[in-house]
Amino acid sequence: MRFLKRHDFGEVRGLELGWSPVGKPLMTTMCYRFGPVLIDTGLAHMRPEVLRMAKQNPVDAVLLTHYHEDHSGNAGAIKAGFNVAVYGSAQTAEKLATPYGIYPYQHLVWGATDSLKIDIFPENLELNGVRFIPVHTPGHSRDHTAYFVSEHGWLFSGDLFLSRRIKYFRADEKIDEQIVSLKKVLTLDFDTLFCGHHPKAENGKAAIAAKLQYLEDFYGKVAELARTGMAESRIMGALHLKEQTFIKLLCFGNVSMKNMVRSVIRSLPQK
Ligand SMILES: [Fe+2]
Repeated sequence: MRFLKRHDFGEVRGLELGWSPVGKPLMTTMCYRFGPVLIDTGLAHMRPEVLRMAKQNPVDAVLLTHYHEDHSGNAGAIKAGFNVAVYGSAQTAEKLATPYGIYPYQHLVWGATDSLKIDIFPENLELNGVRFIPVHTPGHSRDHTAYFVSEHGWLFSGDLFLSRRIKYFRADEKIDEQIVSLKKVLTLDFDTLFCGHHPKAENGKAAIAAKLQYLEDFYGKVAELARTGMAESRIMGALHLKEQTFIKLLCFGNVSMKNMVRSVIRSLPQK
């Protein structure tokens, strides 16, 4: 099933995209339009819809929050088709310069990103009359970058937020870095959170603060038990943390609650 839904946030339009071989997609991804500026490009499986949108309403610049294929999946096609600049961080540029491997579930749900050459985002860039300020916010991925638009109180947050209480991590996510990144964006003055999956038209800062609190509590509880020498599985049992078995199996273990626990343990100083 091809899923496309438009969301209206005043001057910003959200395009919610998803794809599934059967039934409704398990997960959808947002990309955003601010006039001719496109923030993230959606999944490759929805390329015809994204290219049609870019043809109907011309795009003159693309910003990428990170390299993951549900965000960067159509960047190469837009760049090639409309000859526009695609901007991202130096790490995003490095990652997208050559093909990178993805799991079968990622091929199935989103499709692969074609490698492409992107421009490294300058410290400040004025697009469509406003300044976009990149904020390096690693943790979900090493290259993760949010874009802050001070004059409108907007934060394009990619996958920094996702939800107040998250139930699983990818194997390469770092909880300690996420906590630092969430604290960093809380110093900015924004209200609208243009999340890559679950936007908050208002009170975006409260949503970020709630996620920070949740991750700090999680970190504290897991770290306390881990310092006693308790193993991952026993920590999960002691804290009544449940695995989402279907998701874990679908993703070959790359996405799980255990990864969240493991991420805390990995961040602790080694004895
Ligand atoms: Fe992501």
